[in-house]
Amino acid sequence: MLLGAVMGLLALSCLLRAEAAGTSALADASAATGRRMFFGDASLQGAIVGHPEALPPRLAACANCHEGAGLAAASFGPRLNGTRLTEMRGRRGGPPSAFSPASFCQMLRTGVDPASILITRQMPRYTLDDNQCLGLWHYLTETSDVGSN
Ligand code: HEC
Repeated sequence: MLLGAVMGLLALSCLLRAEAAGTSALADASAATGRRMFFGDASLQGAIVGHPEALPPRLAACANCHEGAGLAAASFGPRLNGTRLTEMRGRRGGPPSAFSPASFCQMLRTGVDPASILITRQMPRYTLDDNQCLGLWHYLTETSDVGSN
């Protein structure tokens, strides 16, 4: 009886450990995909509001505006990292707010930020699935310093 319970616990702890390892492998893979999308090595579908045609992949890459080495002026978009995205701060004149994975995905798709303020049209709107935007989220929040300003 006791032995059975001990064996059961052991099996459970092995299972939990395997699951934890699996989860972190998934997060790593997704951050790596996010990085590729951020720098334009994996394509993203984005468009400027009011323009029916999609941006060329080179221009849709986040790094184009959020990283100094991009094609656009170095300081066009703000530096994006875990601190910037997840700390409570006033954004675009709104009340303090912080991004969650869900509000980050919503912002990329619709332009509506966590304080329900519409971001400028300089920031493209993206058509992406949950894996793609969570990959970007993991990459940005797990990387200490992305961008130029
Ligand atoms: C064509 C230029 C451009 C591209 C490409 C671009 N952004 Fe932006 N982004 C901006 C600008 C400009 C702002 C600042 C707008 C504002 O605050 O009103 C911004 C703001 C943001 C913010 C809000 C930051 C905050 O603190 O509120 C996030 C998050 C963001 N961008 C993520 C991304 C991601 C992820 C990508 C790629 C999928 C991307 N952007 C691609 C120009 C761009």
